[in-house]
Amino acid sequence: MYQVLYRKWRPKTFDDVSGQPQVTVTLKNELQSGRVNHAYLFTGSRGTGKTSCAKIMAKALNCLHPKDGNPCGECELCRGIDDGSVMDIAEIDAASNNSVDNVRSIIEEASFNPAKAKYRVYIIDEVHMLSAGAFNALLKTLEEPPAHVVFILATTEVHKIPATILSRCQRFDFHRITPEAIARRLLYVAEHEGIGLDENSALLIASVSDGALRDALSLLDRCASADRQITVSVVQNTAGLTGHGYLFAITDCIIRKDTGKVLAIIEQLYGESKDMGRLCHELIDHFRNLMIIKTLDKTDSLLTFSQEEKADMKKQANALTLENIIYVTDILQSGYEKISRGMHKRTEMELSLIKLTAPQLDTSVSALLDRISALERAVKRGIPVTVSDSTDETAVSTETTISDNTLSDNPPSKQQSAENRKSFPATTGKSMDYNEIVRNAVPMKEWSDVLNVLKTHSITMATAFKNTKAYASGDYLLIDSDNELTFKRLKQPEERDRMRKAVLEVTGRVYRLGPYKKNEEQSSSKKNPMTELLDKARNSGVKVQEEE
Ligand SMILES: Nc1ncnc2c1ncn2[C@@H]1O[C@H](COP(=O)(O)OP(=O)(O)OP(=O)(O)O)[C@@H](O)[C@H]1O
Ligand SMILES: [Mg+2]
Ligand SMILES: [Zn+2]
Repeated sequence: MYQVLYRKWRPKTFDDVSGQPQVTVTLKNELQSGRVNHAYLFTGSRGTGKTSCAKIMAKALNCLHPKDGNPCGECELCRGIDDGSVMDIAEIDAASNNSVDNVRSIIEEASFNPAKAKYRVYIIDEVHMLSAGAFNALLKTLEEPPAHVVFILATTEVHKIPATILSRCQRFDFHRITPEAIARRLLYVAEHEGIGLDENSALLIASVSDGALRDALSLLDRCASADRQITVSVVQNTAGLTGHGYLFAITDCIIRKDTGKVLAIIEQLYGESKDMGRLCHELIDHFRNLMIIKTLDKTDSLLTFSQEEKADMKKQANALTLENIIYVTDILQSGYEKISRGMHKRTEMELSLIKLTAPQLDTSVSALLDRISALERAVKRGIPVTVSDSTDETAVSTETTISDNTLSDNPPSKQQSAENRKSFPATTGKSMDYNEIVRNAVPMKEWSDVLNVLKTHSITMATAFKNTKAYASGDYLLIDSDNELTFKRLKQPEERDRMRKAVLEVTGRVYRLGPYKKNEEQSSSKKNPMTELLDKARNSGVKVQEEE
């Protein structure tokens, strides 16, 4: 009959136990020096060796030929304990024997001398399941234990054990086992079982087992029954690690700020009964992986992914700054907390993703850091920072729509200005149209500084704007140029961004950019020849004495 690997490969000696030296070394030392306690408590996460160590301990205490604190495994007692014929060793599963009566019958027995062994050993597994009465009965025996009795209590949930019991026990904490230690054990087992397993596949099994060797061995079992020659892709398929395309798709939406698409993806996943909490968790993991790829350029710890997936992740990581990633993770984390607290899962998931994709809500740390560092530089240069009470954020994000109008070849028509009004800041309280903005425009004194700063960002851009002038009007910065190409440049998002940064650096303010076009009446009929001459002279770079 086939015996599952994790049963078959239960460690037989302390030396056989992986990754718990804080337990095994101490116990071996104590046994070697003959120090025996009456009660031990083995606690820690599941599948890490608690029950196994309790069994080893029972044998080591009674073995006729112990070696360095380990049981020999061959003497009469070791074998008798293994096959269950030595009645002095009792394993009690507290999950099914949790009543006062169960404990009382143990205690009565305990007072008798052992029949064959040196110690009567009681292993009480899942001890947290005992009833309050049962704990009390146990406590009485623990307070005055017979010399030949040893209790080994094992549990994953130490917080459920009464303090009175805890204080009577020597406690050992079992840790999650490191992936490396798990992989080593897997390779050892595979070799003896004639299963083909390479190191990467072993590490992959280890990394999805979350520190539990039992889980790792079960997964090895399942992989081996799929294919005796285990490879990374066999593990990926068996563990259900493939098919995470939606994580990449959602991340793409976050990068491209595509709210509509991301909501459609959620709708679809929800329809396929994908758990939203789990999805949120997976996304957090995904961004954590992107951060690893970005910062370490080391992908060993990302074994769960295929080469193609890693290449995709690298692309996504490159499209994001570290601040972006931290910001996204932050938003997802708080979404996850709300989901865990039982808020409406789908709504919370959607809200988080809307925050991450809607540009007008983009207060991304990187954007803010950009602006802060620009402000700091401006302050350093001694330029007073104007703290505008208008919603600068909206100014930045709605600018595209406005400037697409205002940057059009013709001055905005009546209809367009009506549209503009909608997107203009509400803070002014009254409606504004382009003509009004132009009327209030004053020449910007720092423009040449701006162009100098612009030079440090892009020489070609600085050259293109060389002979331009600029006027400030409220939140607007209107640029005056004879050359339509200059405005074409400003329609490019990166170029506009550069310009905005340069302006911010010099003035400490975020402006909306637009073209300076004089009113029809102003420019055609009311222009006097003298001004025209002056303008021309200014444009050609000749210094002109300003006349008021
Ligand atoms: N540290 C370990 N070293 C070697 N094998 C281990 C270890 N931990 C677990 N195993 C493997 O997992 C199986 C189950 O381990 P064990 O029953 O000792 O875990 P446990 O900590 O008692 O788990 P649970 O909390 O679920 O009761 C063992 O038979 C063994 O194959
Ligand atoms: Mg156990
Ligand atoms: Zn022995």
